[in-house]
Amino acid sequence: MRLIFLGPPGAGKGTQAKLLTERYGIPQLSTGDMLRAAVAQATEVGKRAKAVMDAGQLVSDEIVNEIVSDRIDAPDCAKGFILDGYPRTVPQAVALDRMLESKGLKLDAVIELKVDEAALVRRMENRVAETVAAGGTVRSDDNPEAFKRRLTEYREKTAPLSEYYAGTGQLKTVDGMADVNTVTAEIEKILA
Ligand code: AP5
Repeated sequence: MRLIFLGPPGAGKGTQAKLLTERYGIPQLSTGDMLRAAVAQATEVGKRAKAVMDAGQLVSDEIVNEIVSDRIDAPDCAKGFILDGYPRTVPQAVALDRMLESKGLKLDAVIELKVDEAALVRRMENRVAETVAAGGTVRSDDNPEAFKRRLTEYREKTAPLSEYYAGTGQLKTVDGMADVNTVTAEIEKILA
């Protein structure tokens, strides 16, 4: 099974991807997590990505396309994978199509989680509060200024992907305003 989760920051892409990982035994490929790991390890990619991510902007297509292409080749992706946060621009979607074709692979579904912007802001605030309460480190882009920018980047660069995947007939939309379990159940209905 090869899936894409689309949706704005805080829509629940990571939450749902993790749940499906257990259910289907395939890995979650989160470009955000991969980039944060690169930043934490101060790799060349991490050094280039840090300031861009902190500002809530998108890292270059070239960097993420390469990261994803390499990751898809790993043995744990042989049965499939869940792309969380990639593609995020139309050029990334075009690159993914080419990448999959060159590897002889096909997508099974593109699932878009729809959530109101006011709810997205509340979810980011909740995540910050929960992280602080647990003594963890708050994400450097989970603050009002960077989050506003992340929403703008989403509207301008990622939202057009809905039309792109509607055009290929692969887009399925789920109401992401519902509670986590209800959203999972809706996704599972689509995948059944
Ligand atoms: P990334 O890490 O992908 O962040 P994001 O897309 O902004 O999304 P989030 O992780 O904040 O949200 P999510 O939709 O996964 O929601 P979650 O499940 O966490 O990207 C970070 C940065 O990396 C980007 O800004 C960019 O700089 C760079 N980057 C990454 N990919 C890139 C790419 N392809 N190209 C270029 N740059 C890239 O849930 C959020 C919160 O809500 C949680 O607290 C959760 O518990 C809660 N929640 C989840 N579901 C529900 C629900 N149904 N009801 C109530 N609360 C819920």
